[in-house]
Amino acid sequence: MGAGNRPRRRRAGDADPARRAALDLLVGVREREAYANLLLPRMLRERGIGGRDAAFATELGYGTLRARGTYDAVLAACTDRALAGVDPEVLDVLRLGAHQLLGMRTPPHAAVSATVALCRAATGPRPTGFVNAVLRRVAAHDLDGWTACLAPAVEEDPVAYLAFRHAHPAWIVRAFADVLDGDWGQVEAALAADNSPAAVTLAARPGRCSREALLAAGAEPSRWSPYGAVLPGGDPGAVEAVRTGAAGVQDEGSQLVALALAAAPIHGADELWLDSCAGPGGKAALLAGLAAERGARLLAADVAPHRARLVGDTLEGVPAARVVAADATVPPWPAARFDRVLVDVPCSGLGALRRRPEARWRREPADIGRLFGLQTALLDRAIRAARPGGLIGYVTCSPHRTESAGVVHTARTGADADGIGTELVDAVALLPQVPDLAAGPFVQLWPHRHGTDAMFLALLLRTR
Ligand SMILES: C[S@@+](CC[C@H](N)C(=O)[O-])C[C@H]1O[C@@H](n2cnc3c(N)ncnc32)[C@H](O)[C@@H]1O
Repeated sequence: MGAGNRPRRRRAGDADPARRAALDLLVGVREREAYANLLLPRMLRERGIGGRDAAFATELGYGTLRARGTYDAVLAACTDRALAGVDPEVLDVLRLGAHQLLGMRTPPHAAVSATVALCRAATGPRPTGFVNAVLRRVAAHDLDGWTACLAPAVEEDPVAYLAFRHAHPAWIVRAFADVLDGDWGQVEAALAADNSPAAVTLAARPGRCSREALLAAGAEPSRWSPYGAVLPGGDPGAVEAVRTGAAGVQDEGSQLVALALAAAPIHGADELWLDSCAGPGGKAALLAGLAAERGARLLAADVAPHRARLVGDTLEGVPAARVVAADATVPPWPAARFDRVLVDVPCSGLGALRRRPEARWRREPADIGRLFGLQTALLDRAIRAARPGGLIGYVTCSPHRTESAGVVHTARTGADADGIGTELVDAVALLPQVPDLAAGPFVQLWPHRHGTDAMFLALLLRTR
């Protein structure tokens, strides 16, 4: 390295680039509602932050966003001022300090002095005394200590305890407890899994790439999907098959639900498949390959033209697939025509919280009610698109009972009232390689049990 390229020696009081990036991430998420997982990688690239600094910025930024609710409760206990009255950027600095003290192994004196330096660089010297004093109080306990001080005992109020200890809004803890039948050990494991980053999983697209090619590029076989491979580290864009589109980045749960839909036996023709909510096209790519292997064709649709274009890019050069931009609630395709239909509805994303650090604090219970009507309409039209004897796969990346079994029940009842009958197919039996699935007919995957997103799958056979 030439002398000109040598990193500038930091003066005491400078903010280091990793902490600065983490602060700018928090500000972007708060002020512009940015998605952290899009903003941070771009910022790190533009600023030339790599290696250990990038890893530190990611752990600091994402960890702080995930645990925001818990850190705010701790910070509120450490100051006489209401947090609403604290300058928002200073509050972001305090949250970063809290995460270093309570969620990372940063030694307390380094966490406090580096955060005070960050505050000085970002906002000027005035609030540094306040930040210093608050963080010294935060440092008085570790997270277990603060949990003992501020949360009720687990036996007394498990929802409030777990919400604090694992940094989730109470309504999400309740929703998980509802689906996990009040098994608090399971609920705790599910919440804890949301705080661990997901591995990068790839899918080899049938007919375009073999899993062996991904293994040869350094990936390891995933556990349940014969097309899946886990990248131990590094950039998936560096894998040739991903660059060419022969493979894609896709959670193993997403692969499994598409595979179950394709594997279920049906009577009669198996020639025309529909993916009515296809953008950006991960499941469509898998389905198109499987359809082609048995001489079938896939129509893939998305209401958003730019999402439909992404599906088009993903399926480019796949002769078995056609893509349209269309609203699947008022479909342009004929009714009672398709042999297999996938409807992978827009949802709250409560099953993928580990991937979106800020999402749990952005979502609210009213979102579930708002989405329910659209999800039910989409499943209703999917049922009508299937021919009698055809199969419908209802998929959502949320374990919330309203978005999963609730939608299935309501859409089936509505279709039945119009003389369109459906039968539930045991989807669990179609994934015999996956352990720990509860009794069917629905499949509910979980990060803490399966290492996948919490995908839900219902399979319906149209009977008339
Ligand atoms: C969960 S995503 C689908 C993910 C996709 N199946 C994949 O595996 O890549 C839901 C998609 O539904 C689309 N969508 C929402 N409302 C729709 C509608 N009325 N008709 C068709 N697509 C819709 C959204 O634009 C979004 O791309």
